[in-house]
Amino acid sequence: MAEPAEPWNTFVEGDNLEVLTWLAGRGESVDLIYIDPPYNTGNDFAYRDDFRDRAENGRGPRASRHQAWLAMMRPRLAAAHAVLRETGAIFVSIDDNEVAHLRLLLDEIFGEENFLAQVVVNLNPKGRQLGRGFATSHEYLLVYARDARATVLEASSADDVDDRDFPHTDPTGRRFRHLPLRNTNKKFNPVTARTLHYPLWGDPETGRVAAAPFTGAVEISPVFGDGTPAVWRWSRPLVEQRPEDLVCRTIKGRLGERVDVFQRDWLHRDTPGGRRKKLRTIWLAEEVGSTDTAVAELKEILGHVFESPKPTGLVRRILGTMPDDAVVLDFFAGSGTTGHAVALANLADGGTRRCLSVNSAEPTREGSNARNAGYATVADITRARLRAVAERLGGGFREERPTGVPDDAPGALS
Ligand SMILES: C[S@@+](CC[C@H](N)C(=O)[O-])C[C@H]1O[C@@H](n2cnc3c(N)ncnc32)[C@H](O)[C@@H]1O
Repeated sequence: MAEPAEPWNTFVEGDNLEVLTWLAGRGESVDLIYIDPPYNTGNDFAYRDDFRDRAENGRGPRASRHQAWLAMMRPRLAAAHAVLRETGAIFVSIDDNEVAHLRLLLDEIFGEENFLAQVVVNLNPKGRQLGRGFATSHEYLLVYARDARATVLEASSADDVDDRDFPHTDPTGRRFRHLPLRNTNKKFNPVTARTLHYPLWGDPETGRVAAAPFTGAVEISPVFGDGTPAVWRWSRPLVEQRPEDLVCRTIKGRLGERVDVFQRDWLHRDTPGGRRKKLRTIWLAEEVGSTDTAVAELKEILGHVFESPKPTGLVRRILGTMPDDAVVLDFFAGSGTTGHAVALANLADGGTRRCLSVNSAEPTREGSNARNAGYATVADITRARLRAVAERLGGGFREERPTGVPDDAPGALS
């Protein structure tokens, strides 16, 4: 495969605050940020010593630990906000230790009105068996738009459409499901949507529906389950245009049998872009992978050299919410999962996403698998994985230094 003009993967080693400031200075901007910062579990936070003095405020060690973590995150998220395009979005992985503090911090920096979701991610399906109490089996993803009105993020996925959700088949073999034509959201009613409250005519024997009376038809007005007036989802002209996509049926409601109108909602797999399903706010390990599958993925490419990588499936689902030419940034890159996921996504759909990964030269632990395998720093692990990804999957790899001078050092593939 020919290498793209701009490599899919670029790596910058350094403290991410400095790198973000450097990027902003160069006028760089990105569409999508995914980060998985240290969770502040008490042993993963390298900043405690630097920030402890500033953060001690007489409220005890736990409060000061949160303060230290927030003091580390605040300028980095502010710098991230500065490089995120108006149409962009940020996804942040976090667990129970800091989720409450992080959500307030993101509200402060991105604006509460730009909050999109707090997703529960079931990354440890067996549940944590160590220690007392609950076997925690999930963590979170906090999702914010740079501007919720302008974002191009689509909270849906093409992978998740389940044929079983479309139980009916027409004589030509096309699958469909019945959706009530009545708007089931009580916010929409004859007061708030006057023009959508009008009578239709239908024959439950033949299923035929029309906007005007016909022989054998009964008049049907939209009502909620409790009998109060409701509105249709379609305007009268739309009903007149597409009567064959509507069907009249007798159903058992709360108040007994009644005649109602349903839309035949087709499963169009072959339309451009395909059918997409709205993403729920609980993501299961069987859909996005687990910490165990992430360790296995990394083991297969570099060995067991990083304790808690994320599965590429999780990042691929995130990538799927943005256009396939998105410029992606991960400034807590760790083992380089985001860059790996970008290459896999580009290969799968022909996209031209590019990813900038940043990690500091945090030393690996003496005696750890990583150190024994010859990786002196986490940055060494990040670059090794991204290089291996480029060798195996293509797309190129480049390393840059914050001076802006591209690194043509040995091993750079582009
Ligand atoms: C939880 S890990 C990320 C794991 C990653 N998502 C993966 O799948 O491998 C957080 C990473 O952030 C890095 N890190 C922490 N502070 C940093 C900083 N100030 N600048 C750059 N990297 C930092 C750590 O070295 C660590 O690799």
